[in-house]
Amino acid sequence: MEDLDAIVQEALSAFAGIDDPDKLEQAKARYLGKSGALTGLLKGLAKLPAGERPAFGARVNDAKERLEIALREQRERIQGAKLEARLEEEALDVTLPGRGLGIGGVHPVTRTMERIETLFRSMGFAVADGPEIETDYYNFTALNQPENHPARSMHDTFYLADGKHLLRTHTSPIQIRYLEQHRPPIKIVAPGRVYRHDYDATHSPMFHQIEGLWVDERITFADLKGVLIAFLRLFFERDDVKVRFRPSFFPFTEPSAEIDMSFGEGWLEMGGAGMVHPNVLKNVAIDSERYQGFAFGLGPDRLTMLRYGVNDLRLFFENDLRFLKQFN
Ligand code: PHE
Repeated sequence: MEDLDAIVQEALSAFAGIDDPDKLEQAKARYLGKSGALTGLLKGLAKLPAGERPAFGARVNDAKERLEIALREQRERIQGAKLEARLEEEALDVTLPGRGLGIGGVHPVTRTMERIETLFRSMGFAVADGPEIETDYYNFTALNQPENHPARSMHDTFYLADGKHLLRTHTSPIQIRYLEQHRPPIKIVAPGRVYRHDYDATHSPMFHQIEGLWVDERITFADLKGVLIAFLRLFFERDDVKVRFRPSFFPFTEPSAEIDMSFGEGWLEMGGAGMVHPNVLKNVAIDSERYQGFAFGLGPDRLTMLRYGVNDLRLFFENDLRFLKQFN
């Protein structure tokens, strides 16, 4: 009898001291298994006098039940502790700010184009647009550059396989498209991508231009120079920007000039300009006796390089995030 109590006490304290599920099952086997201590006692039942057997059997069964309950509780305790530990280990601080998505940024050239548009809008220019895939007519012919005009060879052009279309070599075809649809006064800028066979530190096969066009009854070369000086001073936020015109040739302007700009030392070429050629106005059925105007083409890539101190144009088009991130 004392054996039974002793075994129960021993088992209970053994179970309570175990925190590993496998070891707990091994301990169970030691007391409740086939050759366990309690089972051993039951086997001794046969040797007892018949009158004592029922009472002893009942006590052993009680003991068995107590141990099973203790086992179940210990299993739950072990499980609970394990869960507790895991929760602690994997704890999340839900009050921390989220990582968020990379939202990207505006490309430096796009930033410049938007800035240029804003500045010209403030001077009363509307913004026009045109297709990057052009016809020979809009890119050359309507701009006073007939089929075998030697000036066509100035642009090494990307022609499409159909032989009819090309990637526009400048934004000037937008002049024609706009002039066909509108009557003077016309006062627009037209930004966009253009394409030529060129590749070095200052030339890329794809680059940007912004076209300007102002046609009205009394527009002169002086207006052209005034607008360009005003624009460049606003753009660079400097009053000491100087502008110089160098005589040049474009089939669609007469006279024509290269636009140079200076901050003090040396001159930088910023684009081309001139008075709209009467033949261009004729091609869009505008009376060139009554109306005249100026046109210019500026290079936003060059303007971006100067504004941010970038020395290789190709950096803008390599999409290296280490470079691009510096502008946002
Ligand atoms: N389209 C010319 C070029 O790409 C630039 C230009 C535009 C010149 C408008 C005169 C007037 O070289």
